[in-house]
Amino acid sequence: MGRWSREVGACKAAALLYNPTPMPELTLNGRKISFKPGQSILQAALDAQVEIPHYCYHESLSVVANCRICLAEVWSINPRTSKLEYLGKLVPTCQQAAAEGMVVYTDSPKAVANQKAVMEYLLINHPVDCAICDQAGECHLQDYSYEYGRSESRFEEAKIKNPKKDVGPNILLYSDRCIMCTRCVRFTREITQTNELMIDGRGSHESIDVFPGMALDNELASNVIDLCPVGALLDKDFLFKQRVWFLKKTPSIDGITSSGDNISVEHNEGRVYRIKPRFCADVNKWWITDEVRYGWKFAHSEDRITLPSINRADGTQETFSKDNPRGAFDAAYAQVDAGLRARSSKRLAVLLSPMLSCEDTFSLVRLALSIDSNALIGLGPVPVVGADKTISGFVIRAEKAPNARGARRVANAILASKGASGGIVEFEAFVHAVADSAIGSVITTGNYPSAWTTPALVAALRGKFIVAIDTLPNALTSVADVVLPGATWLEKAGSFENATGRLQSFEQAIELVEFARSEAQIGMDLAAVRAAKDPMRFSADCVRKEIAKYAGCESFASALYQPPARTPVDGDMVLVEL
Ligand code: SF4
Ligand code: FES
Repeated sequence: MGRWSREVGACKAAALLYNPTPMPELTLNGRKISFKPGQSILQAALDAQVEIPHYCYHESLSVVANCRICLAEVWSINPRTSKLEYLGKLVPTCQQAAAEGMVVYTDSPKAVANQKAVMEYLLINHPVDCAICDQAGECHLQDYSYEYGRSESRFEEAKIKNPKKDVGPNILLYSDRCIMCTRCVRFTREITQTNELMIDGRGSHESIDVFPGMALDNELASNVIDLCPVGALLDKDFLFKQRVWFLKKTPSIDGITSSGDNISVEHNEGRVYRIKPRFCADVNKWWITDEVRYGWKFAHSEDRITLPSINRADGTQETFSKDNPRGAFDAAYAQVDAGLRARSSKRLAVLLSPMLSCEDTFSLVRLALSIDSNALIGLGPVPVVGADKTISGFVIRAEKAPNARGARRVANAILASKGASGGIVEFEAFVHAVADSAIGSVITTGNYPSAWTTPALVAALRGKFIVAIDTLPNALTSVADVVLPGATWLEKAGSFENATGRLQSFEQAIELVEFARSEAQIGMDLAAVRAAKDPMRFSADCVRKEIAKYAGCESFASALYQPPARTPVDGDMVLVEL
C-alpha cells in the first residue's frame, strides 16, 4: 500500500472514530428525533423532551400498555417494499419499538380522538373531587384532562362508588380515583417482590387491593404514592396538611442513613411537609425507604433545643429568654471560653457526630486545634441496625448515620496537615481515652434523631468541663456545663460522604428552627470569641475552599461528585449545583 493510500486509510479510520454512526431517527409530529436502538417511541420522545401522555408506563417497570392514552398513528418502512406504510391501527408508543425512518403522529385526528375517548372513559367513575384531593396540583389525570380531555362528559348513569381503604401504615387507597394503571401492583411484584397488592374484580368493578391478611408495609412501600399518577394512593402523613402548590422543593441528601439517597425536601414557611425521592441513577434511582421518607420528624420535635443554657456548678440552670437570643449566645459563648481557658493546662477532647456535615466537622476540628494543638478528636457512635439489604439493586443501609466517612476524612486531613501523631479515634476508644484525668474539657456533638449517649460516655465525662452541642435533650445535655443548640441537616448547607465513598452536597431547605445554629457556625463563633474577633457568617462554599487547603485537593468541590448531565424525565428535579 502506497503512502497516499495509507494516509487516506488513516483519515478514513479517524473519520470513523470522530464521526461515529449517527443515531437512528424517527419523525414525531413533524419533528425529527433520534433514539437509541431498543428504545420504544415513548422513551425516545421522553428523552427528546416531547410529551406523549402516558399513565401505565414507568421507566422502572415492565410495559403492560393497558392505559391506552399513549396510542399514536405510526407509519413504518416496510423492509420488503422500502415504502412507508401505515401500521393499520393506533399503536401504544410505550410498547412499539422505535425504528429508523418511522413517522409518528400523536396529534393526528385519530390519535387525538383516542386521547379524548380514553380521558372520558377514565373519568366515568371518577368522583372528580379535585377540590378536596391531596393530589391536586400534581395529578396527571387533572393535567391530561386539561390537555387532552373533553370539556364535558356524556355519561349520565350513576357512578360506581368504591371505598377508601387503609392498605398500610403509611398509605391510604382512594379506590374511586384509581385508573387501574397497575403501576403500584407491578412495583410490589417487580421491585420489592413482596406482592402485597393485587387486582380484584373485573370490568368496571375492578379495583386494587391488598391480599387478605397483608399490609403494604415493606421497607420501600411508600414509593407507590409517588408512582401513582392520580390521587388514589396517598400519604397518610401528608394528608390534608398542605396544598402542593405552596410547597418549595430543595434538592438534598438523606441525612439519617449512610445511603446518600438523593431526596427533595418539600417545605413551606420554615416547616418540612414531606420528603420525596429525587432520581439518581447511581445511588437510589427513583426510590427511598420509608425510613428516609419519614425520618425527618425530629427536626420539628417539640423538644428541640433552640436556645443555649448554662448549668452552674451550684446545680442551678441558667436559661435565656427568646426575646434576646443574641444575648443568650454571647453569655453562653463567654461561659464556654472561660471554662476552656480555666482548663487550658489539660487536654481538650472533641466528639464529632457522624450526623454532622463535612463542613461542620471542619469548623469544629479547626476550633479544637486552635485551642489545643494536641486535642483528642473522636467520632460519635455510628448506629448500625442489622445488615445491608439489597432489593432489586436498591441498597438499604444498615448504618444509620450519613457522614461517618466524611467526618473521618476531613478530621484526618486536618490532623495530618498539622503533623498530629494520630487521627480521629472511634467512639469506644474515645470513651476510654476521655476518662483520663489529663483531659480537662470536652466538646460533644449529637444531632441524632433519637437518644444516642451511652452511660459509659456520661460516666467518662464526669468532672470535666462539658460543652454539649445538640438538637434534642439527652443524658449529656442535662449534665453539660453549657448546652448550645445545633441544627439538623435540613437547616444548613453541607456535604455528606455515603457508604460507598460518594461525596454529595446538599442545600439548606428551611430556615434554622428558632435560634438554633449550625455546628459549623458555632465552631466559627467560638473561635472568634477566643481570638476576640468579630464572628464570621458560615458559608458552605467558603468552608469547602478552606477544606481544600487541608485535604490537599485543588478544590473541595472537585472532590464532590458531579452528577452526569442527563435528560430530565418525568418527576425529575434540579440536581444539586456545586
Ligand atoms: S392505585 Fe394508582 S398506581 Fe395503583 S393502579 Fe390505581 S392509579 Fe395506578
Ligand atoms: S402508557 Fe402506553 S398504554 Fe399506557
